[in-house]
Amino acid sequence: MSVRIVLGAQWGDEGKAKIVDFLTTDADIVVRYQGGANAGHTIKVGDLEFVFHLIPAGIVHPDKTCVVGNGVVLEPEALFAELDELEEKGIATEGRLFISERAHLVLPYHKALERASEEKIGDGAIGTTLRGIGPTYGDKINRSSGVRVLDVLDADVLATKIRANLREKNEVLTKVYGAEPLEEGPIIEAYVAHGERLKPYVTDTSVYLNDAIKAGKGILFEGSQGTLLDVDHGSYPYVTSSNTTAGGAATGAGIGPTRIDEVVGVVKAYTTRVGNGPFPTELNDEMGDRIRDIGHEYGATTGRPRRCGWLDAVILRMAERINGLTSIAVTRLDILDQIEELKICTHYTRNGERVDHFPADLNVLAECEPVYETLPGWQSDTTQCRTYESLPENAMAYLARIQELSGVTISIVSVGPDREETIFV
Ligand code: IMO
Ligand code: MG
Repeated sequence: MSVRIVLGAQWGDEGKAKIVDFLTTDADIVVRYQGGANAGHTIKVGDLEFVFHLIPAGIVHPDKTCVVGNGVVLEPEALFAELDELEEKGIATEGRLFISERAHLVLPYHKALERASEEKIGDGAIGTTLRGIGPTYGDKINRSSGVRVLDVLDADVLATKIRANLREKNEVLTKVYGAEPLEEGPIIEAYVAHGERLKPYVTDTSVYLNDAIKAGKGILFEGSQGTLLDVDHGSYPYVTSSNTTAGGAATGAGIGPTRIDEVVGVVKAYTTRVGNGPFPTELNDEMGDRIRDIGHEYGATTGRPRRCGWLDAVILRMAERINGLTSIAVTRLDILDQIEELKICTHYTRNGERVDHFPADLNVLAECEPVYETLPGWQSDTTQCRTYESLPENAMAYLARIQELSGVTISIVSVGPDREETIFV
């Protein structure tokens, strides 16, 4: 069986979870390797809808095992809320979920600091999900104050760390931001209890995964966020704080890149983004509103309206290049069913010169103009289509153009949220 990564090719919310759910049939283990509860992965199974923030979406398959890798930043309350919800919906997780002892924990001061910082910046704020992602990764990289999952397994170690960290964090909260300090007692108490609950799940997940690969098991890596939110390659600084691109799977799970067989990029048939930052093909007009309405484009984690725009091939080529995509899965094609004319941005121009690559400098990007190609819409229902050939001709032409412009073959097309509403190309 193969080792596959499924990741977002745009700014997140591409419909990764649906594709992960579809491909889980071929896998034994589903792995989250970066990000945290900033992700919102929605899947529909029959009449039930699940939104996962931390647990891999593969957990809804009773015969699969799930891993939260070392690259994830784990918010215990968010994890437990998900575990409780799964239990309520009759899905047993015992013995099927493993959490890396090396993963870093989100603490209440991370969230408090993030909120204070975003508020202080005001207009130029990143527009984060306020899940404490940036400050937690910051502490991980800073080294002196990171708290790992293994630290909560020992109440004394944990209390010492939290006490020391809070002394510093409270200084920043009160003196830099004029915010309220946090009390150490309740935090220590809560995290000692979290440690007790986490204990049965904690293991060296790199060893577990490498043993599984050697035993020929199928592994599916469930990316969160998207290529343009990658901290190195995305639209910095309007990005998340982890490597959302394919390399993140190797570092975030403790497997070698030579073990990876396939990288599937999930491409929404148009583009969306939540939070602030540049978006060259954004539609600030009726068409943007129309796409948002038809697609119910509101954040699964924060409920914020998503910014909507046309498909951007500059971004797709970047996703192909950085992730080494072996194929793409095009999602939400059905949302475009009634649109009369569709546009795809083929490249940008700046001062009359052609720009083929997403610029690192946002000031340069701001001077780029998207160049569009117009394609006729199909104005018919694709949700009933189950084969590529049964798609309307104009829909096939739209997909063919995506393939040409991105340089990657399409392997899957999604025409609705249900498992059945999927076309395997
Ligand atoms: P999934 O996995 C879309 C965005 C936020 C913000 C920026 C930084 O569901 O596709 P953060 O809280 O990560 O520090 O916020 O990243 N963002 C996402 N946008 N989908 C996501 O996840 C996102 N996770 C973070 O809106 O612009
Ligand atoms: Mg989402």
